[in-house]
Amino acid sequence: MASIVGCITTSHVPAIGGAIDRGLQEEPYWKPFFDGYKPVHRWLETAKPDVAVVIYNDHGLNFFLDKMPTFAIGAAPEYRNADEGWGLSTVAPFPGHPEMSWHMIESIIGDEFDLTTCQEMLVDHAVVNPMRLLWPGTSDWPVPIVPIEINTVQYPLPSAARCWKFGEAIGRAINSYEEDLRVVVLGTGGLSHQLDGERAGFINKEFDLEFMDSLTKDPVWATGYSTQELVEFTGTQGVELMMWLAARATLLGNARQVTANYHIPISNTASGLMLLEPAA
Ligand code: DHB
Ligand code: FE
Repeated sequence: MASIVGCITTSHVPAIGGAIDRGLQEEPYWKPFFDGYKPVHRWLETAKPDVAVVIYNDHGLNFFLDKMPTFAIGAAPEYRNADEGWGLSTVAPFPGHPEMSWHMIESIIGDEFDLTTCQEMLVDHAVVNPMRLLWPGTSDWPVPIVPIEINTVQYPLPSAARCWKFGEAIGRAINSYEEDLRVVVLGTGGLSHQLDGERAGFINKEFDLEFMDSLTKDPVWATGYSTQELVEFTGTQGVELMMWLAARATLLGNARQVTANYHIPISNTASGLMLLEPAA
């Protein structure tokens, strides 16, 4: 059977792609951010995942305001990236795993989450940048992906509590896949940031650190808050932390922190990274 070897939660700020394109990893602005990924690279070399399930939020590339699913999943043989207007280079298409996608769709819909299934799906910086951060210097992606998307753009958004339950359903879907695959789950977004309006530039270090801590000690802690409360605590785009919650929930039990990094600012964002392993 498939099993989850770890869960990696990370920021996905577009500027990361520009920094990678220009080779700025050792510059003083970027170094504390990129250095955080080194222990994750070492872990990936040993953990050797076969597939990455990527939980992310689209920002208007594949889904727009006219049709906005709450939860969506890819079932395509490959996922292309496209110009989003950030001036970033586009990367090689990501191979998909349609067989695993369809198994997961059956399982998750069977679990009462009515997903939108996408046999074509463009993926934006929220998939591309985490993949480039985890497997730097490659245009030949070492693992196929199953992208899973959660709406954080058009209200009403799914609540943190709902995202947690969705993550649990994703975990059950992975664990019931027949092939012996080693699966890494990514959750991309956050942490606190607000890109527009009166509070543009808002960051809440105290909340972010408490949230990161909660993912091992009391992972359902953030599910006690409404979306409005989370916006108040973390900024309008800070609600992307729901991707972290859903990814953490896939572990279906206790988790051990392997490494973590938190750095302010990367662009307008408090950037965060965590690698968790299932624990007894
Ligand atoms: C920024 C952060 C994001 O999560 C995003 O999707 C776009 C921009 C930023 O901080 O610049
Ligand atoms: Fe974002």
